[in-house]
Amino acid sequence: MRGTAVFFDPHPPVGAALAVDSGSVGPVFSEVVDLRDHVEVMSDDDTLVLGPDLADDEAFEVAHFTRAHRPGVEVILVRHEITTPLLQEALRARMSAVIDHRDSLQLRTELRRSLNRSPGPDQPLPEKAGTRRGRVLTVFAAKGGSGKTVLAVNLAATLADRGHRRVCVVDLDLAFGDVAIAMQLFPAHTIADAVPLGGDIDSSAVAAILTQHSAGLSAIVAPTEPGTAESISPKLIAHLLDVLRDEFDYVVVDTPPAFDDQVLAALDVSDLITLIVTPDVPALKTLKITVETLIELGYPRDRLRLVLNRSDSRVGISHAEVEKTAVMPLAGQIPSSRDVPASVNRGVPIVQDDPRHPVSQAIAQFAQDEVIGVGAQRRPRRRRFLR
Ligand SMILES: Nc1ncnc2c1ncn2[C@@H]1O[C@H](COP(=O)(O)OP(=O)(O)O)[C@@H](O)[C@H]1O
Ligand SMILES: [Mg+2]
Repeated sequence: MRGTAVFFDPHPPVGAALAVDSGSVGPVFSEVVDLRDHVEVMSDDDTLVLGPDLADDEAFEVAHFTRAHRPGVEVILVRHEITTPLLQEALRARMSAVIDHRDSLQLRTELRRSLNRSPGPDQPLPEKAGTRRGRVLTVFAAKGGSGKTVLAVNLAATLADRGHRRVCVVDLDLAFGDVAIAMQLFPAHTIADAVPLGGDIDSSAVAAILTQHSAGLSAIVAPTEPGTAESISPKLIAHLLDVLRDEFDYVVVDTPPAFDDQVLAALDVSDLITLIVTPDVPALKTLKITVETLIELGYPRDRLRLVLNRSDSRVGISHAEVEKTAVMPLAGQIPSSRDVPASVNRGVPIVQDDPRHPVSQAIAQFAQDEVIGVGAQRRPRRRRFLR
């Protein structure tokens, strides 16, 4: 172990029990003033574990204080109850994990990882993809709630195939990105950390802003501070994606529901643009305008794919109608299931949690048909709808 674990809980026996449960021998504090004094002398390799009885707002205050004085120290939060707003706040405070107070195994695992981490930006990248450059796959819909994030995260997890391929998800929904939530990530860095580097982004700079999810799967998450989105220029995005192509087999880009300059920068370098749509009239209208705009902007039609989400909804819109609106055949169909929002709330991609689920199989089929099964030589498209 490189660092020491430091524990805090306002109730001394609870703090002591935390230390015992986590198999650690670090100091235990119960007064915030004492902890603050101690933070000042902590080393960058150390980890701070905040116990379940410390109130949420005080815990976030301690996390911000720690970040300001000892930015290298990771903070792990133990809670009686974990809610989505709490996770979001923890993300903003750059905590490295939120753990249920009953889950001492997770606390142990998280502490072991944290105390053994290598400091600073020289985190090793997973092994290189070889000389072949990776492909950029962007998921887009100009309408919110279409299922972009669900498809992006699950497509990435399917492609990673438990470490057989190297995949990175990039969250370009810069203002409201929720990839971190959908993958239950606690990133130490976000895409905003690439801004000061300007044109100097290389593979080691990229390694420093990546968050590792599971074998083969990493992410670059959206900024957590409001108002940061504008500082991320289209040029930076193009450059970042170019570097990521060298490091990963696939780079999956999630997008906001808008044709902004940052999205266009990603679309420009995308090998595949997957448009996702739900079977409702407003979504179809938006899809029609989207396809027309993309064609007008000069994106080749053979780079576009169409996926129908909630494809089994009986709402009086036929698949033929969707294909006719987009002037393009359906390349994938994802059924509706309550298990999808449940998986998002749990922060585990459904393809990892339940690979046999119809939603997982639909996404795996799309990946197989349109991404994995397609080499450098692309299959000829069905010409039925081509103008
Ligand atoms: N196939 C599906 N079945 C049921 N719910 C879904 C499905 N796809 C997406 N959802 C839910 O719809 C909402 C919007 O999905 P999301 O991926 O966040 O859309 P977007 O990123 O396009 O705004 C989420 O709550 C998600 O859980
Ligand atoms: Mg989204």
